Amino acid sequence: MSNNLFVLCLILMTSSSDAAKTTSYTLDLIHRDSPSSPFYDPSRTRLQRQAGSFLRSIARSSSNLLSAPVSPFSGEYVTKFRIGTPAVEVLAIVDTHSDLTWTQCVPCRNNDYKIIECYKQKTPIFNPRNSKTYRNLTCGSDQCALLDDASPGLLPACNQEQQPCSYYVFYKEEAVDESRSGGDIALETFTFVDGDNIDSVKVVFGCGHDNMGGFVEKASGVLGLGRGSVSLVNQLASGGGGGGARYFSYCLTTSESDRSDSDASSRIRFGSTAIVGPGPKVGSTPLRNGPGGTVRNFYSVTLEGISVGNQRLEYSSSPKIVKRIGNIVIDSSTAMTVLPSSFYDRLESVLVKAIVNGTAKRVPDPRKTNGLCFGQVATVNYPAITAHFQGVDLVLSNENSFLEVGVGVVCSTFLRGVSDEPSVAIFGNMHQRNILIGFDLDNHKVDFLPTDCAKPQ
Ligand SMILES: *[C@@H]1O[C@H](CO)[C@@H](O)[C@H](O)[C@H]1NC(C)=O
Ligand SMILES: *[C@@H]1O[C@H](CO)[C@@H](O)[C@H](O)[C@H]1NC(C)=O
Repeated sequence: MSNNLFVLCLILMTSSSDAAKTTSYTLDLIHRDSPSSPFYDPSRTRLQRQAGSFLRSIARSSSNLLSAPVSPFSGEYVTKFRIGTPAVEVLAIVDTHSDLTWTQCVPCRNNDYKIIECYKQKTPIFNPRNSKTYRNLTCGSDQCALLDDASPGLLPACNQEQQPCSYYVFYKEEAVDESRSGGDIALETFTFVDGDNIDSVKVVFGCGHDNMGGFVEKASGVLGLGRGSVSLVNQLASGGGGGGARYFSYCLTTSESDRSDSDASSRIRFGSTAIVGPGPKVGSTPLRNGPGGTVRNFYSVTLEGISVGNQRLEYSSSPKIVKRIGNIVIDSSTAMTVLPSSFYDRLESVLVKAIVNGTAKRVPDPRKTNGLCFGQVATVNYPAITAHFQGVDLVLSNENSFLEVGVGVVCSTFLRGVSDEPSVAIFGNMHQRNILIGFDLDNHKVDFLPTDCAKPQ
């Protein structure tokens, strides 16, 4: 009897420690221009690829974030995971600007329920009928309610409790009419593979039967990492794994577009194992609502100024850049750092004065994109540049602030915004390289730790 009890105790202890085990969800972030990306085009030169990321940055910053989210098809990173049983691989664009994760699903139909083609994707299109774990959700379900506070552009459609929970998400795109996805909100098993670690979790996602992609249509869908309830960040925290922490961190390596497949890639982690610090080198800045307090779904923080050498430029001294908190968005999907026009102009003139010294000269942008470029790289005098966020001074490395775009020519990764409104401001991913950046949705802060991201962490 006591023996049996002992065995039972052991079983209970084992299973409860299994349940308490925090799962580490880790995904590779594949740069769109790296050879393992569906967007990779070997015929494009490095200069062409960089001009592309420059133009996409302008497009992303100039769309009005308050009305519809900018198209994630202009995003810079994709990732792979599996969904369903048996599991099917999905290649999704990583988007910190939107909340819903969706993938194309067969059969494809449009508004009028006519059968149409799905757009072309690299991997086979997911068929929910072939999956044992797929479940449609109804309007009355708790999971359908997760869509209530989602980012602009997402339209949940529900009339009655018993009706299927469905959605449409629209993305703004300059070059084409629109991109969108529409379909059923469903529950499905997502599987994340990280080396020998295989973790499965139930996720609420959009099974898209009516999709129109952007001008590059190759990924299966979008991985939504915004701040809304349906975002994967929130779902992984409440799904039992992840130690309950609404937290994710990523570490972006340099020159992904030039690396070979065997090189260390950038990675993103979710949950308590993703938490950065605390430590002497960790700095944090509060996570805020965006301009006007209406944009809650982006990772907005407060920039107070930028220093070039020991000359500090106050961000709020430009006419339209209010002292307002939440005046810049940290975005992994935009390459360049975009600044409101008048602040950019002041920064540019200070940079030119500091750099044009000796023989280094300002030259026209070889990408023909109006960037700040210098010739005679060897003679360029790089100033120390520091971004002063509320609560943390982030030293921006020369490697992150200047990009060698051609033989003997470097260009700055700061970009002039199309207007002077703080809503155009983005702290881009080039300035985030080799910094472990953690987004803490529970404690409303962003953590920074300078790190060599190519080394295993
Ligand atoms: C899910 O719901 C849609 C209608 O919204 C239906 O066409 C489809 O067959 C359902 N799928 C499953 C697996 O029940
Ligand atoms: C130019 O460079 C020299 C040597 O590095 C330095 O002493 C001087 O302060 C620089 N001038 C400006 C305007 O930055």
